Amino acid sequence: MLDTSSPAGDLKAFATSIEPAKNVPREKLQLGILISGGGSNLQAIIDAIAAGILDAEVSVVISNKSDAYGLERAKAAGIPAICLNPKEFIDKTAFDSAILQELQKYPVDWVVMAGYMRLITSTILDAYPNKILNLHPSLLPSFAGAYAIRDALAANVRITGVTVHIANEVFDEGPIIAQRAVPVLQDDDYDSLAQRIHVAEHKLYPEVLQLIAENRLTIKNGKVRILALEGSK
Ligand code: GRF
Repeated sequence: MLDTSSPAGDLKAFATSIEPAKNVPREKLQLGILISGGGSNLQAIIDAIAAGILDAEVSVVISNKSDAYGLERAKAAGIPAICLNPKEFIDKTAFDSAILQELQKYPVDWVVMAGYMRLITSTILDAYPNKILNLHPSLLPSFAGAYAIRDALAANVRITGVTVHIANEVFDEGPIIAQRAVPVLQDDDYDSLAQRIHVAEHKLYPEVLQLIAENRLTIKNGKVRILALEGSK
């Protein structure tokens, strides 16, 4: 039975004990975060770093929307906050080249999409191969697309959830790293379900980033493995 009592549980359950992680990074993981809106997941990452549960630094935040509140969150945390307007570029490639240029001005090891509502192209994907994360508010491959929460409610499912995966050129596709189940309650409306999904996201995204900071993710043949911590059984 699916345990829905703790939507954002412990990633240890998924770690294999076969291969210990070898290369513990010497410096902190540097994140470039892409946003389009409120940035509550950005805030969760900033807070996890401040709380000492995520060994990383956010080196830059970039938005494709000038009114994205996440930009204010970044500024408040002393993080460079940049906005690029897609309308000012001739096409998607030109826009993504500009995003890439900004990312490359900073020490960025991984690109983290946190509510970034655009499909990124090969221009960015090729610069950070298998090092771009996306967060989606459903248990992929169910309810891909921009209306995952609405679609889950419309389908009357009893369980939905959140997914963190490696991004590729298709919306909400790419190797899945971690998922958390979130129950859909009988009286849920969009807001109540979205609120519970956010709680799960805010826990899961920093947890996955910490696995990356500990050098514990490997990807082979499109499949992600989470390595056990060295010394753990
Ligand atoms: C999240 O629910 C995420 O899954 C989706 O967009 C939302 C962003 O929320 N891709 P926020 O901007 O982090 O508050």
